[in-house]
Amino acid sequence: MTLRQAQGDRDDFPAGTVWLVGAGPGDPELLTRKAERLIRSASVVFHDALVGPGVLDLAASGARLVHVGKRSGRHSKDQATIDRLIVEAALAGERVVRLKGGDPSIFGRSMEELNACRAAGVRARICPGITAASAAAASLGTSLTLRGFARKLVFVTAHACAGEALDLDWHSLADPMATLAIYMGKAAAGEVARALLAHGLPANTPVAIVENASLPSEQTLSTRLDLLPLAMLACAGTGPALLLIGTAMNHSPLAAAKMQGSDVHAFAEQAS
Ligand SMILES: C[S@@+](CC[C@H](N)C(=O)[O-])C[C@H]1O[C@@H](n2cnc3c(N)ncnc32)[C@H](O)[C@@H]1O
Repeated sequence: MTLRQAQGDRDDFPAGTVWLVGAGPGDPELLTRKAERLIRSASVVFHDALVGPGVLDLAASGARLVHVGKRSGRHSKDQATIDRLIVEAALAGERVVRLKGGDPSIFGRSMEELNACRAAGVRARICPGITAASAAAASLGTSLTLRGFARKLVFVTAHACAGEALDLDWHSLADPMATLAIYMGKAAAGEVARALLAHGLPANTPVAIVENASLPSEQTLSTRLDLLPLAMLACAGTGPALLLIGTAMNHSPLAAAKMQGSDVHAFAEQAS
């Protein structure tokens, strides 16, 4: 590898190029330096709903900011429209940043956008970002993998098409030596808990719920698998939330402290 390659190519954003940029979990300080440079250089930024204002503030004053976000059940633009918009902007000679929450390659529909660009002859590249699971584990003060306890880390989406049951391999997910990082899992948390219990994961498996990880509005709640449906009732927030399930969560000092006086246990006692 040459020194120039190692330092990155500074001519990597000519007019007519698309960069799919990971905006990280929300805190602007969790952006990569490359992401910041690309955002500052863009003439147009197409951004998700989960990209925070602190990140968008980095765009040049003359840049166009276009919200194309999708939040569960509230789609502002469908995927085909987003694909078309970024391709049209690039073909018009813009320097296009497609800014996505977290890491673009994790539940980010990146492949559709890359394929649309490639089909139109538009150069498209990816700048990775910090995914929500990493930010959530950092907030909890624990590790996603843990020698002797969690030798497998699984990124799972619990988003199902309206009215459909989750189509997941529960047998392999119910592994006591795994950490499950469940994205888009708020609505399906009860279904997830029931399925994992039915496939043999112990009832006392620790679960952490982290909402708005890395943002000032961050909330964390610790519970156990059998109490997860009740815990979700206690999570009244509307922000994005990540569920972390697995023994590694027992090693969070924050989780342990919260588990003892947890509202969830009070909830469970009232309900029983
Ligand atoms: C469409 S997925 C995108 C994931 C993103 N590409 C990533 O790598 O984090 C959206 C889901 O990510 C999770 N998420 C994103 N930002 C989050 C945050 N700041 N705190 C907690 N969960 C977050 C939530 O589960 C949310 O429903």
